Amino acid sequence: MEQAEQKQGGTNEEDIGGGELGQKSGIKRRHEEEEETSPTKKLVSDHGEKVASHYNTLQEVGLVVRSQSRIFYMRNFNNWLKSVLIGEILDRVQRAGSRNVSVLDLGCGKGGDLLKWRRGGISHIVCADIAEVSVDQCRTRYEEMKRKSHSNEKIFSAQFIASDCSKVDLGWTTLS
Ligand SMILES: C[S@@+](CC[C@H](N)C(=O)[O-])C[C@H]1O[C@@H](n2cnc3c(N)ncnc32)[C@H](O)[C@@H]1O
Repeated sequence: MEQAEQKQGGTNEEDIGGGELGQKSGIKRRHEEEEETSPTKKLVSDHGEKVASHYNTLQEVGLVVRSQSRIFYMRNFNNWLKSVLIGEILDRVQRAGSRNVSVLDLGCGKGGDLLKWRRGGISHIVCADIAEVSVDQCRTRYEEMKRKSHSNEKIFSAQFIASDCSKVDLGWTTLS
């Protein structure tokens, strides 16, 4: 209201850069201009591309090579910890009465947690990751798991999204 009145009065402080309103707008505008050109902003906007390209070019290696990694045991521990956490939380959710549990796995990678979700007996999963190659591998892994499963076992359904989860409104993304 105040802003509208000021504009109607013909002394649009934004235009002349004076007064509190004008100063705020001026500062905001300057920030926007600086952000567009500053190296920091460039770094930030490149960040997603770098992350995607890093994960997209990571080679799948077998257990023998993996076991030679300096962080092999730490990775195993991390995996075990995730299994426990996933198991515990799903147990709690299911005991609270939810039968059909759906999971949104942000940063799903190549699907390293698919088996954990399977063990937890979920009904549906949406796997999202910024790295397209990883999402493809995740989907392949899921299809493989489904194909190899016993006919008695009902494997959860799945959808996949290759997107930057920090920028994209996943509700509007085309799922595949
Ligand atoms: C350490 S990996 C974990 C992968 C998987 N959750 C696992 O445990 O095997 C981190 C994952 O987060 C993804 N990621 C990082 N930033 C992201 C973003 N902004 N949006 C979506 N995925 C992102 C990476 O591409 C990578 O696959």
